[in-house]
Amino acid sequence: MKVTVVGAGAVGASCAEYIAIKNFASEVVLLDIKEGYAEGKAMDLMQTASLNGFDTKITGITNDYSKTANSDVCVITSGIPRKPGMTREELIGINAGIVKAVSSSLIEFSPKTIIIVVSNPMDTMAYLVHKSTSLPKNKIIGMGGALDSARFKYRLAEALQGPISDVDGMVIGGHSDTGMIPLTRLATRNGVPVSEFLSEEKLSEVLEATKVGGATLTKLLGTSAWYAPGAAVSAMVQAIACDTKKVFPCSVLLEGEYGFNDICLGVPVVLGKNGIEEIVKINLNDAEKATMVESAKGVKAVNDLL
Ligand code: 2OP
Repeated sequence: MKVTVVGAGAVGASCAEYIAIKNFASEVVLLDIKEGYAEGKAMDLMQTASLNGFDTKITGITNDYSKTANSDVCVITSGIPRKPGMTREELIGINAGIVKAVSSSLIEFSPKTIIIVVSNPMDTMAYLVHKSTSLPKNKIIGMGGALDSARFKYRLAEALQGPISDVDGMVIGGHSDTGMIPLTRLATRNGVPVSEFLSEEKLSEVLEATKVGGATLTKLLGTSAWYAPGAAVSAMVQAIACDTKKVFPCSVLLEGEYGFNDICLGVPVVLGKNGIEEIVKINLNDAEKATMVESAKGVKAVNDLL
């Protein structure tokens, strides 16, 4: 299994590190445009191999896409991250051009690859890859919900004052501070609905804290987060590489599913060797459906800026 990660910044390097440590890929190619940067990160990461116990070969490349040839999965993290106070949507002006160029360069050398889009505004960037490449729709996957769900579980465990391993929950909708939808109704603590343990008010606090999870970290860090985004991508790549059929909320092109068309939006999907194996239909209540409609409106408004 060969994986390419474009962008050797904090998210891309974290993604490459977690993929390497999980040891399911034979090779990870880390590519950046900054001379020597990816080479340096790759070498530093390779020097952890004996300590972290992995055999994955990590190679750093400066802007030479021929070295990414025949990648099974390509991850696009390149572009500028947001600064405190910025929305993800404000990045579209610069990141759209980068994502378009990067995706076509990747496909030139790996025509059968699966692309995972991380760059923000992610739902719109995933949509851009659909519109600007001929990749089949099962091979273009936006990473947002996996990260947002991890933040949701973190906030639920914090509220429950219990271990995160007891908690399950999913975030669907747009990967934006206003558009994401933590499904509090369906979240569980060891199989029991969390509403059995948390008041409506507390659940609302968890929901709001989840929605601004990225912005909260950007305010603290001065830039976008990287550990959890990198870990979320690596979990998705592992599901594809190992054909696990694991369900993740991912931003995928909808063509009638959930009542939406011609938009990339976070919905539960089964990930496997073919990328998106299936879009999973879950029954949303009227309030959740209405929130999804509002979320889609927000994503569509950003798509219209392309
Ligand atoms: C985040 O939410 C980078 O969009 C990513 O941290």
